[in-house]
Amino acid sequence: MKIVYVQTNPVFGEKKQNFNQVESMLQGVSADLIVLPELFATGYTFTSKEEAFALGEDHKGETIAFLTQMAQKTGATFVAGWIENENDCCYNAAAVVNADGFIDSYRKLNLFNRETLWFSPGNKPLKTYTISGVEVGVMICFDWYFPEITRKLTQMGASVIAHPSNLVLPNCPDAMVTRCLENRIFAITANRIGNEKRGEDDFTFIGKSQITAPGGAILSNRYRICTTQTFLF
Ligand code: ACM
Repeated sequence: MKIVYVQTNPVFGEKKQNFNQVESMLQGVSADLIVLPELFATGYTFTSKEEAFALGEDHKGETIAFLTQMAQKTGATFVAGWIENENDCCYNAAAVVNADGFIDSYRKLNLFNRETLWFSPGNKPLKTYTISGVEVGVMICFDWYFPEITRKLTQMGASVIAHPSNLVLPNCPDAMVTRCLENRIFAITANRIGNEKRGEDDFTFIGKSQITAPGGAILSNRYRICTTQTFLF
């Protein structure tokens, strides 16, 4: 399986600019699975539910249309973080999208810090997706903090976890070694870089996107730059 992660530096609220960044970083890339960061199109640091909701979309919106287009160009299935609106709720979600369009979404179960003020907790069951013959599970960022999600996805048959992230705590890259070792799985943690100072929050995102192997080996370097990394396993 050929997998790619893209580590970006999104500008808050500037979806078109953030789409353009991803598109240019994927120029000439083909893969089976491409993982983008959590909330890659919008940025992370909201100040109200109204603000998050206004940047959210359903699966007929421009973010899923962009991902579908990129799936057609690259041949890949994407797992990418986005705000999913449904009724009057918004979810911190990861869309699974291929060249035919939207397949499904995972809605983050373990919301971090003030995310609980704007996002509703995930209300969909965990699932795995067959991508190029491989069972792939999805979790989002702070889900790393709890062993249950990787364990449950492994028990459901996943051998790869796609993990869109906006990491601010330093521990996740090390914790993913344990998560992968205890479950004998691969994980692709796609993080972002940059800083967002909005409202009461001032976040610096740590980069260090990481491919972690079942034995705990880290197959990628711990960069803090915008980068597109490709791996075969
Ligand atoms: C996080 O869950 N984005 C820290």
